[in-house]
Amino acid sequence: MGTAPTSPHIARYHAGNADAETDGRLRSPVFERNSPPIIAALAPWLAGRTGPALEIGAGTGQHAGAFALAFPGLDWWPSDPDPGHRASIAAWRAFLRLPERDALDLDAATAWPGHPQVAALGPLAAIISLNVIHIAPYSVARGIIAGAARALAAGGLLIFYGPFKDHGRHIGSGNAAFDAGLRAENPDWGLRDLADIEALAADAGLAFAALHAMPANNRMLILSNPNPDPR
Ligand SMILES: C[S@@+](CC[C@H](N)C(=O)[O-])C[C@H]1O[C@@H](n2cnc3c(N)ncnc32)[C@H](O)[C@@H]1O
Repeated sequence: MGTAPTSPHIARYHAGNADAETDGRLRSPVFERNSPPIIAALAPWLAGRTGPALEIGAGTGQHAGAFALAFPGLDWWPSDPDPGHRASIAAWRAFLRLPERDALDLDAATAWPGHPQVAALGPLAAIISLNVIHIAPYSVARGIIAGAARALAAGGLLIFYGPFKDHGRHIGSGNAAFDAGLRAENPDWGLRDLADIEALAADAGLAFAALHAMPANNRMLILSNPNPDPR
Protein backbone atom coordinates (compact mmCIF):
# COMPACT_ATOMS: atom_id res chain seq x y z
CA MET A 1 0.00 0.00 0.00
CA GLY A 2 3.04 2.18 -0.30
CA THR A 3 3.43 2.40 3.48
CA ALA A 4 5.90 0.68 5.74
CA PRO A 5 4.52 -2.64 6.98
CA THR A 6 3.04 -2.39 10.46
CA SER A 7 5.03 -5.41 11.50
CA PRO A 8 8.81 -5.47 11.63
CA HIS A 9 8.49 -8.64 9.61
CA ILE A 10 11.44 -10.34 8.09
CA ALA A 11 11.56 -11.31 4.48
CA ARG A 12 11.89 -14.99 5.20
CA TYR A 13 13.06 -15.77 1.73
CA HIS A 14 15.66 -13.74 -0.07
CA ALA A 15 18.66 -14.46 -2.17
CA GLY A 16 20.83 -14.69 0.93
CA ASN A 17 18.87 -17.38 2.76
CA ALA A 18 16.88 -19.24 0.12
CA ASP A 19 17.59 -20.95 -3.15
CA ALA A 20 17.20 -18.32 -5.83
CA GLU A 21 17.02 -18.68 -9.57
CA THR A 22 18.64 -16.13 -11.85
CA ASP A 23 15.17 -14.93 -12.94
CA GLY A 24 14.31 -13.87 -9.37
CA ARG A 25 12.31 -16.93 -8.31
CA LEU A 26 12.89 -17.73 -4.66
CA ARG A 27 12.26 -21.21 -3.29
CA SER A 28 10.84 -22.08 0.10
CA PRO A 29 12.58 -25.18 1.44
CA VAL A 30 9.24 -26.78 2.36
CA PHE A 31 7.03 -25.89 -0.60
CA GLU A 32 7.54 -29.14 -2.52
CA ARG A 33 6.57 -31.21 0.53
CA ASN A 34 3.63 -29.08 1.66
CA SER A 35 1.96 -28.16 -1.62
CA PRO A 36 0.38 -31.53 -2.66
CA PRO A 37 -1.54 -32.07 0.60
CA ILE A 38 -2.59 -28.40 0.65
CA ILE A 39 -4.00 -28.64 -2.88
CA ALA A 40 -5.75 -31.92 -2.00
CA ALA A 41 -7.34 -30.41 1.12
CA LEU A 42 -8.43 -27.30 -0.77
CA ALA A 43 -9.93 -29.15 -3.73
CA PRO A 44 -13.32 -29.95 -2.17
CA TRP A 45 -13.66 -26.28 -1.25
CA LEU A 46 -12.18 -24.50 -4.26
CA ALA A 47 -12.58 -26.77 -7.30
CA GLY A 48 -15.28 -25.30 -9.48
CA ARG A 49 -15.46 -22.08 -7.47
CA THR A 50 -15.28 -18.86 -9.47
CA GLY A 51 -14.51 -15.22 -8.71
CA PRO A 52 -11.58 -13.25 -7.33
CA ALA A 53 -9.30 -14.91 -4.77
CA LEU A 54 -6.76 -13.06 -2.65
CA GLU A 55 -3.65 -14.61 -1.10
CA ILE A 56 -2.22 -12.70 1.85
CA GLY A 57 1.52 -13.01 2.55
CA ALA A 58 2.28 -15.02 -0.59
CA GLY A 59 6.04 -15.14 0.10
CA THR A 60 7.98 -16.78 -2.71
CA GLY A 61 4.82 -17.08 -4.84
CA GLN A 62 5.14 -20.84 -5.26
CA HIS A 63 1.78 -21.57 -3.63
CA ALA A 64 0.22 -18.71 -5.61
CA GLY A 65 1.38 -20.36 -8.84
CA ALA A 66 0.17 -23.78 -7.72
CA PHE A 67 -3.26 -22.39 -6.79
CA ALA A 68 -3.63 -20.63 -10.13
CA LEU A 69 -2.87 -23.90 -11.95
CA ALA A 70 -4.97 -26.15 -9.69
CA PHE A 71 -8.02 -23.89 -9.39
CA PRO A 72 -8.23 -21.93 -12.65
CA GLY A 73 -11.87 -20.94 -12.10
CA LEU A 74 -10.68 -18.52 -9.44
CA ASP A 75 -8.93 -15.31 -10.42
CA TRP A 76 -5.90 -15.39 -8.11
CA TRP A 77 -4.40 -12.19 -6.70
CA PRO A 78 -1.28 -12.81 -4.62
CA SER A 79 -0.13 -10.10 -2.21
CA ASP A 80 2.83 -9.44 0.05
CA PRO A 81 4.25 -6.30 1.72
CA ASP A 82 7.83 -7.32 0.93
CA PRO A 83 9.15 -6.07 -2.44
CA GLY A 84 11.58 -8.97 -2.83
CA HIS A 85 8.75 -11.43 -2.33
CA ARG A 86 6.57 -9.57 -4.82
CA ALA A 87 9.39 -9.83 -7.37
CA SER A 88 9.62 -13.58 -6.74
CA ILE A 89 5.84 -13.96 -7.07
CA ALA A 90 6.00 -12.23 -10.47
CA ALA A 91 8.95 -14.39 -11.54
CA TRP A 92 7.07 -17.59 -10.65
CA ARG A 93 4.02 -16.38 -12.61
CA ALA A 94 6.24 -15.75 -15.64
CA PHE A 95 7.97 -19.14 -15.25
CA LEU A 96 4.58 -20.89 -15.08
CA ARG A 97 3.29 -18.91 -18.09
CA LEU A 98 0.50 -17.36 -16.04
CA PRO A 99 -0.84 -13.99 -17.16
CA GLU A 100 1.45 -11.17 -16.11
CA ARG A 101 0.18 -9.55 -12.93
CA ASP A 102 1.90 -7.55 -10.20
CA ALA A 103 1.36 -8.92 -6.71
CA LEU A 104 -0.49 -6.45 -4.50
CA ASP A 105 1.49 -4.52 -1.90
CA LEU A 106 -0.78 -5.30 1.01
CA ASP A 107 -0.17 -5.12 4.76
CA ALA A 108 -2.84 -7.27 6.36
CA ALA A 109 -2.74 -5.35 9.64
CA THR A 110 -4.19 -2.33 7.88
CA ALA A 111 -7.73 -1.76 6.62
CA TRP A 112 -6.75 -3.58 3.43
CA PRO A 113 -10.25 -3.99 1.90
CA GLY A 114 -9.98 -0.25 1.24
CA HIS A 115 -6.87 -0.76 -0.91
CA PRO A 116 -8.03 0.48 -4.32
CA GLN A 117 -6.88 -2.68 -6.11
CA VAL A 118 -8.67 -4.91 -3.60
CA ALA A 119 -11.84 -2.81 -3.71
CA ALA A 120 -11.78 -2.99 -7.52
CA LEU A 121 -11.95 -6.80 -7.39
CA GLY A 122 -15.41 -6.70 -5.81
CA PRO A 123 -16.61 -9.30 -3.30
CA LEU A 124 -13.98 -12.00 -2.92
CA ALA A 125 -14.74 -15.68 -3.43
CA ALA A 126 -11.81 -16.74 -1.27
CA ILE A 127 -8.98 -15.39 0.86
CA ILE A 128 -6.08 -17.63 1.81
CA SER A 129 -3.12 -17.04 4.08
CA LEU A 130 -0.48 -19.68 4.66
CA ASN A 131 2.23 -19.55 7.29
CA VAL A 132 1.73 -15.86 8.03
CA ILE A 133 -0.10 -15.15 11.28
CA HIS A 134 2.51 -16.74 13.57
CA ILE A 135 5.39 -14.79 11.92
CA ALA A 136 3.67 -11.45 12.41
CA PRO A 137 2.09 -9.56 15.29
CA TYR A 138 -1.41 -10.53 16.38
CA SER A 139 -2.67 -7.40 14.63
CA VAL A 140 -2.11 -9.25 11.34
CA ALA A 141 -4.44 -12.11 12.34
CA ARG A 142 -6.98 -9.55 13.52
CA GLY A 143 -6.58 -7.56 10.31
CA ILE A 144 -7.05 -10.58 8.06
CA ILE A 145 -10.24 -11.60 9.86
CA ALA A 146 -11.73 -8.11 10.11
CA GLY A 147 -10.89 -7.50 6.47
CA ALA A 148 -12.33 -10.83 5.36
CA ALA A 149 -15.61 -10.01 7.08
CA ARG A 150 -15.75 -6.86 4.94
CA ALA A 151 -14.39 -8.24 1.68
CA LEU A 152 -15.77 -11.78 1.27
CA ALA A 153 -18.74 -12.47 -0.95
CA ALA A 154 -21.70 -14.32 0.52
CA GLY A 155 -20.48 -17.88 0.99
CA GLY A 156 -16.87 -16.78 0.42
CA LEU A 157 -14.12 -18.61 2.30
CA LEU A 158 -11.29 -17.45 4.56
CA ILE A 159 -8.61 -20.15 4.76
CA PHE A 160 -5.66 -20.25 7.16
CA TYR A 161 -2.89 -22.83 6.95
CA GLY A 162 0.09 -23.36 9.20
CA PRO A 163 1.07 -24.45 12.71
CA PHE A 164 -1.41 -23.60 15.50
CA LYS A 165 -1.93 -24.26 19.16
CA ASP A 166 -5.18 -26.03 20.04
CA HIS A 167 -6.97 -24.73 23.15
CA GLY A 168 -3.74 -23.85 24.92
CA ARG A 169 -1.79 -26.94 23.94
CA HIS A 170 0.88 -27.37 21.31
CA ILE A 171 0.27 -29.96 18.61
CA GLY A 172 3.56 -31.84 18.89
CA SER A 173 6.94 -31.04 20.40
CA GLY A 174 8.25 -29.66 17.09
CA ASN A 175 5.59 -26.94 17.14
CA ALA A 176 6.44 -26.11 20.77
CA ALA A 177 10.11 -25.65 19.86
CA PHE A 178 9.20 -23.62 16.78
CA ASP A 179 6.94 -21.37 18.88
CA ALA A 180 9.68 -20.79 21.44
CA GLY A 181 12.14 -19.88 18.67
CA LEU A 182 9.70 -17.43 17.10
CA ARG A 183 8.99 -15.73 20.43
CA ALA A 184 12.72 -15.46 21.14
CA GLU A 185 13.20 -13.82 17.76
CA ASN A 186 10.28 -11.44 18.23
CA PRO A 187 8.00 -11.39 21.29
CA ASP A 188 5.07 -10.31 19.10
CA TRP A 189 5.32 -13.51 17.06
CA GLY A 190 4.28 -17.03 17.97
CA LEU A 191 1.83 -19.77 17.16
CA ARG A 192 -1.79 -18.66 17.37
CA ASP A 193 -4.44 -20.67 19.15
CA LEU A 194 -7.22 -22.10 17.01
CA ALA A 195 -9.70 -21.22 19.76
CA ASP A 196 -8.64 -17.55 19.65
CA ILE A 197 -8.79 -17.38 15.86
CA GLU A 198 -12.20 -19.05 15.77
CA ALA A 199 -13.47 -16.64 18.46
CA LEU A 200 -12.14 -13.63 16.52
CA ALA A 201 -13.84 -14.95 13.40
CA ALA A 202 -17.14 -15.53 15.19
CA ASP A 203 -17.03 -11.98 16.61
CA ALA A 204 -16.49 -10.69 13.07
CA GLY A 205 -19.53 -12.63 11.83
CA LEU A 206 -17.68 -15.44 10.06
CA ALA A 207 -18.77 -19.06 10.50
CA PHE A 208 -16.60 -22.08 11.22
CA ALA A 209 -16.63 -24.38 8.18
CA ALA A 210 -13.91 -27.00 8.73
CA LEU A 211 -10.61 -27.83 10.38
CA HIS A 212 -8.30 -30.21 8.54
CA ALA A 213 -5.33 -31.94 10.15
CA MET A 214 -2.39 -31.59 7.77
CA PRO A 215 1.04 -33.26 7.59
CA ALA A 216 3.80 -32.12 9.94
CA ASN A 217 1.28 -31.08 12.60
CA ASN A 218 -0.09 -28.23 10.53
CA ARG A 219 -3.76 -27.32 10.35
CA MET A 220 -6.03 -25.83 7.71
CA LEU A 221 -8.85 -23.75 9.19
CA ILE A 222 -11.72 -22.85 6.87
CA LEU A 223 -14.17 -20.09 7.75
CA SER A 224 -17.05 -18.87 5.64
CA ASN A 225 -19.08 -15.72 5.27
CA PRO A 226 -22.71 -16.52 5.99
CA ASN A 227 -23.77 -12.91 5.39
CA PRO A 228 -25.00 -11.28 2.21
CA ASP A 229 -22.53 -9.72 -0.22
CA PRO A 230 -20.72 -6.65 1.16
CA ARG A 231 -20.67 -3.77 2.07
C1 LIG B 1 6.76 -17.52 6.35
S1 LIG B 1 6.31 -16.51 5.01
C2 LIG B 1 5.03 -17.50 4.25
C3 LIG B 1 4.98 -17.31 2.76
C4 LIG B 1 4.01 -18.21 2.01
N1 LIG B 1 2.64 -17.92 2.38
C5 LIG B 1 4.34 -19.65 2.23
O1 LIG B 1 3.62 -20.33 2.96
O2 LIG B 1 5.34 -20.13 1.68
C6 LIG B 1 5.40 -15.18 5.76
C7 LIG B 1 4.97 -14.12 4.78
O3 LIG B 1 4.15 -13.18 5.47
C8 LIG B 1 4.43 -11.91 4.94
N2 LIG B 1 3.98 -10.89 5.90
C9 LIG B 1 4.63 -10.45 7.01
N3 LIG B 1 3.95 -9.46 7.60
C10 LIG B 1 2.83 -9.27 6.86
C11 LIG B 1 1.74 -8.37 6.95
N4 LIG B 1 1.68 -7.44 7.92
N5 LIG B 1 0.76 -8.45 6.01
C12 LIG B 1 0.83 -9.37 5.01
N6 LIG B 1 1.84 -10.26 4.88
C13 LIG B 1 2.84 -10.20 5.79
C14 LIG B 1 5.93 -11.93 4.73
O4 LIG B 1 6.38 -10.92 3.84
C15 LIG B 1 6.14 -13.33 4.19
O5 LIG B 1 6.07 -13.36 2.79
